[in-house]
Amino acid sequence: MADKKVIAVLGATGAQGGGLARAILADPEGGFAARAVTRNAKSPKAQELAKLGAEITVADVDDGQSLEKAFEGAYGAYCVTFYWEHHSPEREAAQIESMARAAKRAGLKHVIWSTLEDTRRWVPLEDDRMPTLMGKYKVPHFDAKGGSDHFFTDQGVPTTFLLTSFYWDNLIHFGMGPKPGADGVLEFTLPMGDKKLPGIAAEDIGRCAYGIFKNGERYIDKTVGIAGAHLSGDEMAKSLTKALGREVRFNSVTPEAYRGFGFPGADDLGNMFQFKRDFQDVFRGPRKLEEARRLNPSLQSFEVWLAENKSRIPLE
Ligand SMILES: NC(=O)c1ccc[n+]([C@@H]2O[C@H](COP(=O)([O-])OP(=O)(O)OC[C@H]3O[C@@H](n4cnc5c(N)ncnc54)[C@H](OP(=O)(O)O)[C@@H]3O)[C@@H](O)[C@H]2O)c1
Repeated sequence: MADKKVIAVLGATGAQGGGLARAILADPEGGFAARAVTRNAKSPKAQELAKLGAEITVADVDDGQSLEKAFEGAYGAYCVTFYWEHHSPEREAAQIESMARAAKRAGLKHVIWSTLEDTRRWVPLEDDRMPTLMGKYKVPHFDAKGGSDHFFTDQGVPTTFLLTSFYWDNLIHFGMGPKPGADGVLEFTLPMGDKKLPGIAAEDIGRCAYGIFKNGERYIDKTVGIAGAHLSGDEMAKSLTKALGREVRFNSVTPEAYRGFGFPGADDLGNMFQFKRDFQDVFRGPRKLEEARRLNPSLQSFEVWLAENKSRIPLE
């Protein structure tokens, strides 16, 4: 361990950080060691990582001092926030600022910050194509991240800004899988018309991040976008039909309708999909499949991901 470069991985028991921790641990000759950061070292997920060889460290992203301790002596860190745990862009921004400060204090040589676009650069608050949310955001869970990138640059932290894509795992965990329509036929709902959505297997985000750490110098102070495929709702429905062996129809709805679905965060996601639909060049442009494949040669396509995960998608 002593001669290895330690990466402190936030969210190591979750999707993005978990993929990175597992990628590091699966490559014992790679020169890196995983320090898994969790709030609960005794949880089954933390224990699983410990068994694979991870060092387990306790910290909370709301507590800057605990982050400093978690980063101490490390070479690098994977920084990610957990918007859907609290739905507060202000809290997310404060956490990002703490991460950047802690990274600076620890003298980290390379941080990957899992960010997203501040959509207000393209849709200013006065633009009424989509509603302003919480007084000062268009897509709160994007804007809080992109609007906080400067904390890393302000502190002079050597950072790679990683633009992730829609997880296909949302079909399993986020209620976005196909559901039976009025006639019983499964419907896959997306408010993007015929436009394409960059998507990725969540596990591949961490694997790409590992590729970025391995190629350190080349990616510091750069923005890197990744995706496993760019697919329209209709194309995703066709792949689902094939994989499930049961008809899945694309249910094209408007962003207005999506915002009105009423679940917590529906307005945020309605605006998000509208942004992705209406700014295809801005959103799809940087999310390059070739780059993702270079970083992670085992990058999954939607079909490959479905073959592995179709039985986990709830269809009711
Ligand atoms: N879903 C998508 O399609 C998508 C796409 C792009 C970006 N994102 C972004 O991804 C982020 C979430 O990442 P994820 O999906 O990897 O998360 P996740 O799978 O929900 O994992 C969250 C993990 O983070 C830890 N955690 C939660 N609150 C914490 C805190 N206060 N301090 C320290 N650790 C904490 C938890 O670990 P312990 O319980 O072990 O502490 C948990 O296992 C969100 O901000 C979201 O906007 C999502």
